[in-house]
This record gives sequence, structure tokens and C-alpha cells, in this order.
Amino acid sequence: MSELQAKYLKDYQQSDFTINHLSLDFQLNIPTTKVVAISQVERQSKQATELVLDGEDLDLVSVKVNSQPASHQVKDKQLYIQADLDNFELEIITHIKPAENTALEGLYMSDGAYCTQCEAEGFRRITYYLDRPDVLAKFDVRVEADKTEFPFLLSNGNLISSGDAVNGRHFATWQDPFPKPSYLFALVAGDFDLLEDQFTTRSGRDVKLQVFVDKGNLHKAHHAMASLKKSMKWDEDRFDLEYDLDIYMIVAVDFFNMGAMENKGLNVFNTKYVLADKESATDDDYHGIESVIGHEYFHNWTGNRVTCRDWFQLSLKEGLTVFRDQEFSSDVGSRPVNRIQAIQVIRNHQFAEDAGPMAHPIRPESVIEMNNFYTVTVYNKGAEVIRMMHTLLGEKNFQAGMKLYFERHDGQAVTCDDFVSAMEDASGVDLQQFRLWYSQAGTPSVAVSENFEDGQYQLTLTQSRPTVAGNNDLPMHIPFDVELIDLDGKSITSKVLNFTERQQTFTFDGLTQKPVVSLLQDFSAPVKLEYQYEDEHLAHLMRYASSEVARWEASVSLFSKSVWDNVKALVAGKSMQLSDIVKDAFKGVILDEKLDEELIAEIMSVPSISALVEQTESVDLDSLITARSFVKDELALACEDEVVARYHTSKDKDIASARALKNECLSWACVANEEHEALVNAQYESATNMTDSLGALKVASDLNLSNRESLMTHFENRWVDTPLVMDKWFTLQAIQDSEQVIDKIKALTSHKAFSFNNPNRVRSLIGSFAAGNIKHFHKSDGSGYQYLTDILKKMNIINPQVAARIITPLIQFSKFDLARQQKIKESLQELIELPDLSKDLYEKVSRALS
Ligand code: ARG
Ligand code: ZN
Repeated sequence: MSELQAKYLKDYQQSDFTINHLSLDFQLNIPTTKVVAISQVERQSKQATELVLDGEDLDLVSVKVNSQPASHQVKDKQLYIQADLDNFELEIITHIKPAENTALEGLYMSDGAYCTQCEAEGFRRITYYLDRPDVLAKFDVRVEADKTEFPFLLSNGNLISSGDAVNGRHFATWQDPFPKPSYLFALVAGDFDLLEDQFTTRSGRDVKLQVFVDKGNLHKAHHAMASLKKSMKWDEDRFDLEYDLDIYMIVAVDFFNMGAMENKGLNVFNTKYVLADKESATDDDYHGIESVIGHEYFHNWTGNRVTCRDWFQLSLKEGLTVFRDQEFSSDVGSRPVNRIQAIQVIRNHQFAEDAGPMAHPIRPESVIEMNNFYTVTVYNKGAEVIRMMHTLLGEKNFQAGMKLYFERHDGQAVTCDDFVSAMEDASGVDLQQFRLWYSQAGTPSVAVSENFEDGQYQLTLTQSRPTVAGNNDLPMHIPFDVELIDLDGKSITSKVLNFTERQQTFTFDGLTQKPVVSLLQDFSAPVKLEYQYEDEHLAHLMRYASSEVARWEASVSLFSKSVWDNVKALVAGKSMQLSDIVKDAFKGVILDEKLDEELIAEIMSVPSISALVEQTESVDLDSLITARSFVKDELALACEDEVVARYHTSKDKDIASARALKNECLSWACVANEEHEALVNAQYESATNMTDSLGALKVASDLNLSNRESLMTHFENRWVDTPLVMDKWFTLQAIQDSEQVIDKIKALTSHKAFSFNNPNRVRSLIGSFAAGNIKHFHKSDGSGYQYLTDILKKMNIINPQVAARIITPLIQFSKFDLARQQKIKESLQELIELPDLSKDLYEKVSRALS
């Protein structure tokens, strides 16, 4: 039972012993792989006489201290070794079974190749070790395997030697000159196609770049390689950071729990974030690859050179590295569109996490299963916190802070507080109050009221926080960006207010008329805004705000307000309606020739049901669905001629932004009038890239057009052997608006392209049903909940990490009606009673039930 106990940040203690050097020897074999681990151990605390190592699912063969068999004991996934010595050599031999490892943590098989995933605590499934991020050792690794089956033998750092061994086997030895924690260890053995290139760093060092992909996929590796080179250059230009080894390897594997992993010199990636060609990957896929390749590359400094003291500090590397990858994407692509996408992640997912049972500060204070804390809070809200510091300090001071951070901490394992101190010391900006962002969970709200008198405009801001266990009710430092616009649409002033008190009034003098205000521009802080907008006000901002993000923001508010107004009408038994102000505002955007086409597409992709659910405390789901459809239909009808015209003008432009707009126009056109189905067929048939074909297919599927079945079947036959493309098809099936959708999903789990062992498949079929098909997942008879529960029972055994990810919609129930909540709780109760419930699910289910 002890493993179900939470661990607390406040209990952190330095390790009694540390390991300075580790030499690993892998005899790769199925079913049993032998691992010899020789550690150079050093005592750090005088009184310590017992070394305690972590280990899970290991077959322990022998333990030696200074070459002599050592007395030891295994208890509760730990190995206790008597060692009253200041320095000693520890040799541990373990046997592991990679082919039976379906949890995909530690050493496992992906489609015939050996690979590893050690973050956060997977290394303990390879050998007994001090598996914690503040123990930094230099690694030497020897890998031996069958030569024909596994021609490539890879690990971190530099290749030192390689050659033949007996019985048709061969070996390679690798040495990583940089001390690292065990979570950054990686090993890969397999047969791949290899794309090679090189990069010369700005100090003139040549780095060999290698991307390994499954045989036959070489032509799909070029975008990943180009993205890597772009990332390396960008980090030199913007952050003054250079790569530090002579080789950088990326291996793409089919079976992977997450997106990718930044192991030193040897990144392991989900194929989803590597493989792309025009035919099989959408523009969004291309963008995702560039950003994840960047993310993992940027970790080399923010994560690897300076790492985390303990896992509670995860945001130290993840929040910062997400901020860096977002800046990269914004510098090489469209800044407003990237910002809009980041804002949506916070509003639609992070706010939901904050409102649910897993709410935690970006630096959590207690954890049962660390894998449950690779969250939108730690990653994305963490990035917003870094972004706010960037706003408060400015680019120059922020970069000075980064420089000081590396000067102080290169080669160390440190805390979030160390990072903030470096920012503070380099800039002279006081961040004492700002630090609350690290310890307070939940989404703050800012209520805004205004007053205009005698040429003086006053904004009064009031902040409040939800009650979350462990929070103090202290006001936070909120950078609050506002723009004042006059009635002709001219900008009067724009600035960032330092909002630090519970209530604060800001005054603007010398105005001739009451201005129209644009609030929380660029989402300058991850807070909720409480302000009563009028339709005219929002329409004005959609048209005139200087910031494109603010124009999009106004469109979201205007659409949302229209939906909520109609929900009220429904509840009051009145008829629904949509004003011309709203219709004209959207029409104006669709007709705007100067606005970036991708931005128009963002504005046209109005808030989803789940995004709307996030805007409220409690929701009548059925009225919400009805009202949203009404508003969308009315808008589409009002703009039918305009969207069809714009469809045709963007149709043949070969650029991503035009394709995005074209697909939105196609969708709006078909919402307005099913006769436009002919455009869907034509686009699908003439498509030369996946964005166009999937765009057409999605419209047919989402709107249940009469051509749906024939197009879906055609797509299936065309792509049945390309798993990443089949994921898109599985998702369309799962989010379909059909009373039979659950039966269809059940049948699809026997599809030859589906496998419960592959996380991408499970996420695309089951995960997107639960998260993306609100209407049918939350069907009032509870059938959606029951189906997910049955799947969770299965995934709990196969892959607990994946189970704990796809359960998310089932634990975020506080906004739904009591009847639905009751049904959800019955499902959760079934899960908590499972005899072999994993830590991962236990933590989430028990929090949801308490
Ligand atoms: N550090 C990796 C990244 O951000 C993610 C690793 C996630 N690991 C996990 N066990 N959840 O790119
Ligand atoms: Zn990361």
C-alpha cells in the first residue's frame, strides 16, 4: 500500500549517497535482457550506512560492493545495501523482459526495435539505481545485440568503439561526457533508414545530425531534419545557446507514450512528430513536428545542462522550454496565430484542469504518480508564467536573466526559485509577489469596471482566486495589458498595467470621448476576465483592435455571448435569435482582404462546446448544444455568399494559411446549405495534399453529409497501411454525431489498423471520443461513461500512463448536472474497486471521488 502514499515537496532531502560514474552493459535478448550496472558511489552524508536504490519489475541476479558479494535486501520496490564506506564500486546485475513491457516505460520493444523511455521514473525498470534527477553521473554504455536484426546500436553521447561479437552479434560503446540524471539515459537498437546531415555551430564546430526512421520512410524525415537545423540556428540567434556534442540523433518510434523525449544527444520521438510528406501530413502536422523538434532541442540547455532538483520542479524545465518553443514558432511563423493556439490550450484545457480534482500549482506540492504531472498546468501554464516574467522584464533583461541562470547553474540540478532569483538579480525587478504564481493553484479572476467623467477614464480591477486546498488568499502580480480605442477605431493608448493589489484603479487622462477598451490583450496573464461586454463593443474591437490576437479574442467573446444569450432564451422559453451586429461583424472579417487568411480561419473556427463549457460554472448541456448550433447555423446562413466566394479565391493558393481559410469556408458553406456538398467531393477528389483531403473528409464526416460513407471508405482503403493517417480516420469516426457512435467505436477496436498496445491508436479512437465528442460521451443514459470505464479497465493493465491520460474527461465533471455527475461517480467507483488499480489511475480516481 505504501506506494499509494503521496510524496511531498516539503520533505525533500538531499540523497545520502551520490553516483559519479555509471557504466552500463546491455546484452539485448528476447525474452531476457541482461543488464550489468557498475556505479562509482560516493557518500554525501556522514551518518549513512545503507544505500537505498529504486527498482521496479526487475529480476535481481547479483549485488557486489568492491567486487565482493554484498549483503542486501529487496523490499517495496527498493534495494537496501549495507555500505559503511565513503567511496565504493557497486555492481548490480539484473534481468529484464523488454518484449513484455506494454507500459512503455524503461526498456521496451517498438515494432521490433529496442528503445527506452526513462522520464520520469523509468530508469528503475532497467536497473536498481538512485533514480532521482539530482544524482548526476557520467555514463558509459556498451550495447550488444544480434547484428542482422539490430544493425544500429545507439546511446547517449559519442560513439567510442564498435565491432563484431560472437554468435552473429555485434556491439557499440558510447560515452556521454556530460554528467546527467538517469531520466536522460537512452538506448536504441534496431534497423532503420537513416537521414544524415550536418550543422556548423556559430563557433565553428561541426555537428553530425541523424534522423532514424522505420524502413521505407526516409522520404518522410526531411521536414524533421530541416526543423532541427532551424532550431539549432534559432537558439544561437535568440538565446545565444550553442549545441555541445559532436552528434545529435533523433529516432522515431511507433510506440510512445508522449510526444518525444530529450535524452542527451539521442532524442526518442513518437513518429507523429517526425514523419511527414505532403500526401500524408497536414499543415498542422508540419507545424507540430517543427515545434516538438524545437522543444526537445531547446531542452539541451533548459533541462539537460541545467536540470531539476526534484520532480516537483518539473516546470523549471518544461514551462521554460514550452515558452522557448512557442517563441521559436512565433519567430519563424505567424506570431498571432501561435499565440491564439497557446491561449486556446490554456482556456480550453488548463482552466478545466484547474476546475477539476487534479488542480495543482505549476510547482505541485504533493504527488503519488509523477507521470500524472506532465500536465497542461506544469507545461502550458508554466510557459505563461515565464511569459509574464518576459513581459515584466522585457526581452533584454530576460535574456540577461537567462545568461545569469546558466552562469550560476550549468551542470546543476536546481529549483524554480533559483530560476526566478536569476531573473530578479539580472534585472533588478522585484519578483517576490510574482512567485505566488508557482505556489497558488487555480485560475484567478479579474473583474473589471469602468468609469468615464470629464475626460478621465478609470478602470477598476478586482482580483479573486478560487478556493483550492493549500492556497493562501494573497493577491498576485498580474501584468494586465490594455488598449484604449476611440469611436473611429483609432488607438489612443496601449500599455501593460502592473496589477498587484486586491483592487486597483488605473486612470487615463485627457480623453475627449469614452473609449472602447480592449482588455487582457495578448492574454497577458492566465486569468479569467469578468466584464459585461456589449455586442457593439465587441464588434468594434473585432474591426479595430491594433492587435490581431485582440481581434480574434473579441470574436470569441462575441460568439460566446451570442450562445449564452440564446441559452438564456431557451431556458426562459423564448425563441432564439441572432442580431445583425454579430452577423455583420463576422461578415466583415470574412470579407477583409488585409487580414491574414490564417487569422480569418481562426476567427471562423468558433468556440467548441467544450470551450464554451469552460466559460461557465454549471451547464445545461442540452441547451448549450442547441444554442451553439443555432448561432453557428445563423452565422453560416448570413455569410453563405461570402464564404463561397472566399472559398473560390483561396482554393488554388498553395500556402498553408489559404488552405486553412479554404477549409473553414467549406465547412461554413455546407453548414449553410448542403448543396455545397459538391464542393466537398471536388476538393476531396482533386486534393494533392493531406490538408485538402482531410479538410474535405472532415466536413463530410462532421456534418454527416450524404457522401460521408463513400469518402470515409475511400480514405480507409487508401491509407489502411499508414498508421498515422489512420489515426485521423479513427478520430473522425470517434467524434461523429451519431446515435450509434459507441457501437461503431467498439467495432473499430477490431479493425486491423487498431491495437490497444499502441498509444497513438488508443488516443485517436478512444481518447478523442471522450474528449472530443461531448454530445455522445455525456449522453444522459451514461453509456459513454460506461464504455470509457470498460476501456480504462483494460488499459489499466496494458498501459497505465495512457489510461490516466484518457480518463481526463471523466474526472472533470463539476460543471454538469447532478444526474450526470451521479452516473460518472458510479463509473469511478467501479474503477477504484479494481483489485490491481495502477498508481496512475488511483491518484486521479481517488481525487475525483473525494
Ligand atoms: N520531457 C518530455 C518532453 O517534454 C516529456 C516526457 C514525458 N514523460 C512522462 N513520463 N510523462 O518533451
Ligand atoms: Zn519538455
